[in-house]
Amino acid sequence: MIEKINQLRAEIESLTAAGLQEVEALRIKYLSKKGAISALMQDFRTVPAEKKRELGQKLNELKEAATARLSAMREALENADAVDADLDLTRTPIPFPLGTRHPLSLVREEIIAIFSRLGFTIAEGPEIEDDWHVFSALNFADDHPARDMQDTFFIERNPDVLLRTHTSSVQVRVMEKTAPPIRVLCPGRVYRNEAISARAHCFFHQVEGLYVDENVSFADLRQTLLYFAREMFGPETKIRLRPSYFPFTEPSAEMDISCNLCGGKGCSFCKHTGWVEILGCGMVDPNVLEACGIDSKKYSGFALGMGVERITNLKYQVKDLRMFSENDVRFLRQFTSAH
Ligand code: DAH
Repeated sequence: MIEKINQLRAEIESLTAAGLQEVEALRIKYLSKKGAISALMQDFRTVPAEKKRELGQKLNELKEAATARLSAMREALENADAVDADLDLTRTPIPFPLGTRHPLSLVREEIIAIFSRLGFTIAEGPEIEDDWHVFSALNFADDHPARDMQDTFFIERNPDVLLRTHTSSVQVRVMEKTAPPIRVLCPGRVYRNEAISARAHCFFHQVEGLYVDENVSFADLRQTLLYFAREMFGPETKIRLRPSYFPFTEPSAEMDISCNLCGGKGCSFCKHTGWVEILGCGMVDPNVLEACGIDSKKYSGFALGMGVERITNLKYQVKDLRMFSENDVRFLRQFTSAH
């Protein structure tokens, strides 16, 4: 009997099974009521009393070893099955929900990238400003309508604490602190007391550019603008400068680009003129340089300012300004692939 036990023990240690059904067949073969181990249990009854102790122990060990071995085999096969079921190498990956960058951020970054290729660096300033940086230093007359409460948000009725209406205030802060040469780009949010509609909002975004050095001329301004327009809207883009007025530049101009929708032929977007306005610019008024402590006899400069929403509308034809701040993901998701 002891040989039989040892033989079964050896058999059980080397069992293999390719599937769960085979494991079940082995269980029946060894462990069921009619199995090999049960048969030995039957034989055990006839074993002489003095051998019972030793053989009984061996028999129990055999039974435990067989049970453990078979359940280990079953477990291994079940786990392997689970992995197989999940591992389908031909399946398309589960889409990873990527966030999208806001269209205004995309356009702001693009503007910054273009100007940084010309050596402009970023400067930022506060959104809550004072009269000096937003108006007085920029040569606004005391009675200029932009100072009116209808246009400007003042804080707590204190006319010296206000939300900046343009990023030109950052020019002043930079010029006050830095000696020329200055070449900065000032992106930021601005506020105006306007009724909200598809075409106007009480806040929007601007990027201001400022270049101050010896001998900066209008030709430098024009060439910079042409470079910007072509990088932003394509190499075929034409620009046109129309005389304009801003208190802080003299002379001042507004820049149009050839309509990027119809290529200048005329369409409803450009009101059949072939041109669309995109920014204001000019030579920094000597009064502004002096107000910021820069010698206007030695230095000259140009400045330009554009609305990020306006450029974004031109690039992506967003018809309603309110969409930019509504956080409607159906709108925002359309920009997923625009890096
Ligand atoms: N600050 C002007 C505005 O908000 C935009 C502007 C025009 C900025 C001409 C400039 C400039 O620097 O030269 O409408």
